Amino acid sequence: MTSVSDPISEIEDAAMRELAVISDATQLEAWRLSYLGRKGKLTRILRGLADLPLEQRRSLGAEANRIKLRLETAHREKLARFEQDRVAQVTEGERLDVTLPGPPLPRGGLHPITRTLQDVLRVFESMGFQVAEGPEIEWDYYNFEALRIPADHPARDMWDTLWIDCEREGRRSMLLRTHTSPNQIRIMERTQPPIRVVVPGKCYRFEATDPTHEWMMTQVEGLAIDDGISMADLKGTLAEFARRIFGEERKVAFRCDYFPFVEPGMELRIDCFICRGAGCRTCGRTGWIEILGAGMVHPEIIANAGYDPDRYTGFAFGLGIERIALLRHGVDDIRHFYANDLRFLQQF
Ligand code: DAH
Repeated sequence: MTSVSDPISEIEDAAMRELAVISDATQLEAWRLSYLGRKGKLTRILRGLADLPLEQRRSLGAEANRIKLRLETAHREKLARFEQDRVAQVTEGERLDVTLPGPPLPRGGLHPITRTLQDVLRVFESMGFQVAEGPEIEWDYYNFEALRIPADHPARDMWDTLWIDCEREGRRSMLLRTHTSPNQIRIMERTQPPIRVVVPGKCYRFEATDPTHEWMMTQVEGLAIDDGISMADLKGTLAEFARRIFGEERKVAFRCDYFPFVEPGMELRIDCFICRGAGCRTCGRTGWIEILGAGMVHPEIIANAGYDPDRYTGFAFGLGIERIALLRHGVDDIRHFYANDLRFLQQF
């Protein structure tokens, strides 16, 4: 045990010597306790002063206080240095190199349907068609009535419809458009011939889905009305379209089909580009693939638009973008397009 009579300067020397070699905060704290703590060597001396005669108490007290102050100061300085070192170490370790390239960002791409749609529109634009748009929520009038498909007409069965309950206007007057054809009427209402437009848009059907049917799909409607437009114009336009999208060597064929708003109505087929006409799974062994519906605009519709039906004729067509994308990319199920599976989408 250190007694009051220990030469106090020896305590000072020992303390300073020990302090000089201390290299971390734990050792420093042990050092502080052993000299300056409640039971520390210096503290005990200071406490013992009371028992000493006055003279001794004065001189020893002054000396002890000086040493206490010196040790405290030295302790504070050492502690501050440790803290500085610690901060320096952390900042050194976490230093940023701002010139390093950042982590790569995942790169997005256009949806395969968007790409096909853009390609299709570009072909028609290059042939002088303008692009227009119309509403997805549509009146029965534009979707059916004005296209010569009256209520209870059996042709309505061609389009399984998603109706919208609309109290004020009477039920069953609004719907999600089942095709883009209502835009034929909308465009004729607001423009005068010559007309050459294509109208892209989403369409909806109340349909059980399977590999070739979805309840939502993307169509492009085409409409051309002018003085003396004939079937030859329709044929030339669509043949050009088919070659630009499916390959220069494509053969096209027209076959009679029925759509109430065209007369005559037809379907366009291209020779199967997989088997080159020999017959395969894609073309159902026929050698031909149906691409779209088309026809000459019904004279009644021309007259209803207020155009002179003796002067103006026109053609219309409607095609499904998903079907074209399926064929172009050899995809076997239309539902892949809207399943949001990146493993599928990243392939395009
Ligand atoms: N709107 C038809 C459908 O969705 C496709 C169609 C056929 C559009 C003939 C036309 C056309 O413009 O002339 O089934």
